[in-house]
Amino acid sequence: MATDPKTAEPATASTAGVTFECREVSYSYLDRYPALDGVSLTVRPGERVALLGANGCGKSTLLKLLDGLVFPSSGAFTAFGQPVTEDTLEDEQFSQAFRSRVGFVFQNSDAQVFSPNVREEIAFGPLQLGLGADEASARVDEVIAMLGIEALADRAPFQLSGGQKKRVAIASVLVTNPEVLLFDEPTAALDPRSQYWLTDLIEQLGAAGKTIVHATHDLDVLSRIADRCVVFSEEHRIVAEGGPEEVLADRDLLLSVNLIHPGSRR
Ligand SMILES: Nc1ncnc2c1ncn2[C@@H]1O[C@H](COP(=O)(O)OP(=O)(O)O)[C@@H](O)[C@H]1O
Ligand SMILES: [Mg+2]
Repeated sequence: MATDPKTAEPATASTAGVTFECREVSYSYLDRYPALDGVSLTVRPGERVALLGANGCGKSTLLKLLDGLVFPSSGAFTAFGQPVTEDTLEDEQFSQAFRSRVGFVFQNSDAQVFSPNVREEIAFGPLQLGLGADEASARVDEVIAMLGIEALADRAPFQLSGGQKKRVAIASVLVTNPEVLLFDEPTAALDPRSQYWLTDLIEQLGAAGKTIVHATHDLDVLSRIADRCVVFSEEHRIVAEGGPEEVLADRDLLLSVNLIHPGSRR
């Protein structure tokens, strides 16, 4: 049985082979502003899960928690059968393994891109994970070709358009080939062509076997990129889970969580 390096807690049988397990997780910012309240969620390898809910319900906070950027105020979070805590992430080996397995595409690409040029930006992750310069460079070329951003390679990220920055941010995540991808409102603020491109990419990544958790308001593409939807109330709790068709057909549910308005045709 797998054990955690720091606490030597055995992974329970129920969490072994599970990608993410949140058990009754609550989180408040500054101990005052609630963002998650008693959230229990299991994500299995290869699943594509959509987090749905009105602004402020806690989607981004949950994604940050799944990426080990914030930690539960109460409740427990395990990834790949191991507890993820401030303590366990202090273990270099555990932290590197976790970071290489989980990639997070932030909603705001400006918070994600900071290097002087795109090539360096994309190389940052592989170098951080200890890859040699040659291998990092080969990986960078590969992902630049995969995303069709050759023309951006020598440009400064901060000069790029929103859609171009998003591609660079995605390249900087895909370059380390994580098995889990977290996307926070990936298509928000993109033009229709970039939205289409990105939806297609997420669909392809899912088909390639990636585990994908994404937060979205875009109900129109749900059935293409999610197997399961998790619906949050404005009280930061999960109020429903189900397949996209089932959730989209439940007008009362969508109204109650403020995902549609009474005049909406959906
Ligand atoms: N840095 C922060 N400081 C204080 N409160 C925050 C912070 N970030 C988010 N919150 C609060 O936490 C709640 C959940 O926010 P968030 O996870 O961003 O929701 P969503 O992504 O669903 O819009 C909101 O009430 C929000 O105001
Ligand atoms: Mg958000």
